[in-house]
Amino acid sequence: MLGRNARSKFRKETKLKLLVTGGAGFIGSNFIHYWLEQHPEDSIANLDVLTYAGHLESLKDIEENSNYSFIKGDITYPEDVKRAMQGVDVVVHFAAESHVDRSLVDPMVFVKTNVVGTGVLLEAALDYEVKRFHHVSTDEVFGQLGPSDPAFDENTNYNPRTPYAASKAGSDHLVRAFYTAYGLPITISNCANNFGPFHDPEKLIPRFITNLMEGKHVPLMGKGENIREWLYVKDHARAIDTILQNGEIGETYLISGEEKTNLEVTKKILEILGKDESFIEYVDHRLGHDFRYATNSTKIQKLGWKAEHSFEEWLEKTVNWYIKNEWWWKPLKANRPNIDRSAQKFYGGKI
Ligand SMILES: NC(=O)c1ccc[n+]([C@@H]2O[C@H](COP(=O)([O-])OP(=O)(O)OC[C@H]3O[C@@H](n4cnc5c(N)ncnc54)[C@H](O)[C@@H]3O)[C@@H](O)[C@H]2O)c1
Repeated sequence: MLGRNARSKFRKETKLKLLVTGGAGFIGSNFIHYWLEQHPEDSIANLDVLTYAGHLESLKDIEENSNYSFIKGDITYPEDVKRAMQGVDVVVHFAAESHVDRSLVDPMVFVKTNVVGTGVLLEAALDYEVKRFHHVSTDEVFGQLGPSDPAFDENTNYNPRTPYAASKAGSDHLVRAFYTAYGLPITISNCANNFGPFHDPEKLIPRFITNLMEGKHVPLMGKGENIREWLYVKDHARAIDTILQNGEIGETYLISGEEKTNLEVTKKILEILGKDESFIEYVDHRLGHDFRYATNSTKIQKLGWKAEHSFEEWLEKTVNWYIKNEWWWKPLKANRPNIDRSAQKFYGGKI
């Protein structure tokens, strides 16, 4: 096992076996594509229980790749996790319940998957002496910012305000505790909002794109004044690669995107699809709706990472991906006829 504060050198020396958890989800599937392209000598096992958010269709093109395998299993079941952990060098942990609105309706599922599941993985990673456990987390653990507050950085105190953010915060603390208490070689990243292909149509950008393609309205909370940072998903995958190769064991890295109001994002999608603002339906804020997130990524930039995909250009490419790939998202929406109705319910706070 690598010592504390050691810089990992494992990448250059060996072919790696990665265990990716939640690889059938949005970021996990993009990460697997990225990794197999960039590091074709490595092998990846994808452990995913396939919740409503897990789509093996996102990995159809690599099903036959001999360096890729899928294990259907639950991160909260120690037996599933032990089976998946055999011979693994590096764990990249994405699996989570990830939708804030759902966490307001059913918080305990988030506690179970995000906190207990991460604990089960950490215990197994320790038992099997993995060389690195990378935990994928979110900027939402820090709470919200006012309009002119300085951006979050690695020293910002945690102040989660939704069950999703609190469960991710809990998982971050557990990961850090396994480093300080047992010396498990961990790294953590807290990333801004991602966008790109294979993003489930219940999330803001893909829901708005696909609603407009179907001639429907887009439900925008408040006046669309809330601010998020947006990062193209491939830049997130590259950031994790950078941390695995150059990061310090035991350290956390924040990963930034471009700050936009939700109204700016909505108008841009309308413009790309040639629609006017009459398609916007203003709805109530969700409970505990954080006003603004912004992150300072100076620390990861010092490792050699910076975003390479601009919001404007890659949002347009993302819209085009949804136009060309109805086969991927249409069945998902068809199976969830209440996707907008339930969203309205959450946003209205009438839970
Ligand atoms: N989406 C974002 O903008 C964003 C930003 C920052 C951080 N993150 C974090 O990145 C990670 C991935 O996010 P995402 O948007 O790809 O999520 P997602 O909801 O699209 O995918 C989650 C995946 O985890 C799987 N999963 C859920 N419970 C499981 C369990 N018990 N056992 C095994 N697999 C399980 C699901 O089947 C799904 O494939 C999460 O940890 C999330 O907190 C996401």
